Amino acid sequence: MKKRIAILASGSGSNFQAIVDASSRYSSYEVALCISDKSDAFVLKRAEKAGVTAFSIVPKLFENKNAYEQEIVRRLEENHIDFIVLAGYMRLIGSVLLEKYENRIVNIHPSLLPSFPGLHAVKQALDAKVKITGMTIHFVDAGMDTGPIIMQDSILIDDNDTEQTLTEKIHKLEHEWYPKVISSLCLGKIDVSGREVIIN
Ligand code: GRF
Repeated sequence: MKKRIAILASGSGSNFQAIVDASSRYSSYEVALCISDKSDAFVLKRAEKAGVTAFSIVPKLFENKNAYEQEIVRRLEENHIDFIVLAGYMRLIGSVLLEKYENRIVNIHPSLLPSFPGLHAVKQALDAKVKITGMTIHFVDAGMDTGPIIMQDSILIDDNDTEQTLTEKIHKLEHEWYPKVISSLCLGKIDVSGREVIIN
């Protein structure tokens, strides 16, 4: 039985697209839902085109973060969601979601964590003049890009790379790896115990 994943995203959704496009190659997951915290996010248009149920839930319409996340949980449960995949979701996950979906929320980040967490990770790497950067897929905890690391892949930075060219290169890695990792997760091949992630 395919696992049902929900993708939470705030922006363009190129990772959403890659995960949807790859889903036909995998018998392990289907993209059952897309939720954005922004009503004008381009990812919602992509979802509509792909025939994925999608809507926004806008935080400022709720009394507080708990109430906002309770509404997300309600919609996730209504849609029988097994795993939550963050793909450019620009908010910290709070206790309501973390408790309900313990070890069932993953994120992707455009740097080799723990280097350059948070916003503008590609620019941070360029500014730091590092020679290698990459991307990280990890379980989500309460911190900013701090959860147990599932996998990473690296890329050499060229002298003439700009934020744009490097972002494009990292996106390529992300689009290749995220569907594979999600598939393994949905097949029950990824276990986490404390900080340690074991891929079987
Ligand atoms: C990706 O680079 C991801 O690593 C980060 O946000 C970006 C989202 O890009 N968390 P997109 O919306 O999937 O194109």
